[in-house]
Amino acid sequence: MAGPMQKNPSEFNPGATLMRRLEALSLFSEGGDGVTRCFATKEHHQAAEMIQAWMRDAGMSAHVDAVGNVVGRYEGTAADAPALVIGSHQDTVRQGGKYDGAMGVVVPISCVEHFNNTDQRFPFAIEIIAFCDEEGVRFNSTLLGSRAIAGTFDMAALETTDNDNIAMADALRAFGTEPNDIPSLARSKKDVLAFFELHIEQGPVLEEEGLALGVVTAIAGGTRLSATVTGFAGHAGTVPMDRRRDALTAAAQAILTVETYCSSKPGLVGTVGRISAAPGAVNVIPGKAIFTIDIRAGDDALRRQAVKDVCGEIETLCQQREVDLTIDVIHESDGCQCAPWLMEQLESALIRTQHPAKRLMSGAGHDGMAMAHITDVGMLFVRCKGGISHHPAESITEADADASARAVLHFIQNFEPLNET
Ligand code: GLV
Ligand code: MN
Ligand code: MN
Repeated sequence: MAGPMQKNPSEFNPGATLMRRLEALSLFSEGGDGVTRCFATKEHHQAAEMIQAWMRDAGMSAHVDAVGNVVGRYEGTAADAPALVIGSHQDTVRQGGKYDGAMGVVVPISCVEHFNNTDQRFPFAIEIIAFCDEEGVRFNSTLLGSRAIAGTFDMAALETTDNDNIAMADALRAFGTEPNDIPSLARSKKDVLAFFELHIEQGPVLEEEGLALGVVTAIAGGTRLSATVTGFAGHAGTVPMDRRRDALTAAAQAILTVETYCSSKPGLVGTVGRISAAPGAVNVIPGKAIFTIDIRAGDDALRRQAVKDVCGEIETLCQQREVDLTIDVIHESDGCQCAPWLMEQLESALIRTQHPAKRLMSGAGHDGMAMAHITDVGMLFVRCKGGISHHPAESITEADADASARAVLHFIQNFEPLNET
């Protein structure tokens, strides 16, 4: 682990430290290719310990809250000052990369470390939150940490179970927190001045334009569905092809429907990322297939229409194939516009640190979608190699990490809360 940065550095060049910290966090992984760090697991616990240690070295108080967020606070010049909340998520997808989420945790900590080492304090407090679960891999319910902070956490989610039939409430107790305390995490609007997140772009725009950084204008909305097709299992050798009610072939046709529909409308993307079939034997016709559907668009109306149309088409094909279908919505988030006043301050930070003021939108989901319920949201993107993300090959350069930290430093130093009088 990297040691604390030197006292009173004349320059702020944390790139090498950031890369070491990102590497160190990536080691807390279930194993296999890439990084797999899911909510309320041993790996989450290990990462939370390391993040708290970095926060304390940076002069912050730090704790893990009831939902599993790591929360650090650097006080302002006055006690209990409202906070500029900065954060991203500690969790990853399965076999993901080292930078999605982690980048937005380590960079602001290095900025606060610099403020602490150079005796800088502001009229506002700085809170850094490493959100517990943005990806929703373990329990199919995303934005858990940011929803708890925004006061929109659905306590019914605590009863949902993972693939091993462990309920979320039990997973949190084993992790070391008390889930009944989650409602008390909700912040009041007056205590939060804004939410800012730094994140890798996860797309190709910045790289194609030769830019290290860009200001995010909006986050696309998304709907996630879980579909269950029930047919009739049977003998793979004896049931004639025209007598089958094969759940998996119906699901296959449904998956192609998602692809065909979403390819036909600009601005829409659709993915089936998980499927399972039962009973799952080479010589048994599948009686049940369960799969997910993820549909996103920058335009909420386009996404809602797509969800309706795709579900209707799948319903029809299942009727034709004489299999039963249920579809449940497991996540729904409208798109989120970033606040113009924060975009302007982020652009100024880019210009002051010698970067063009590029603006771009986010196709990926982020914790800002939940935080937008209580405060204005701003985001900055950092270039990543080939736009590759949610993949072990996710990659950034040390120079870009350094550049992003300098831009965030300037943004915080010059942050002016919105005067709403
Ligand atoms: C999160 O990374 C998402 O957009 O699915
Ligand atoms: Mn992600
Ligand atoms: Mn992310």
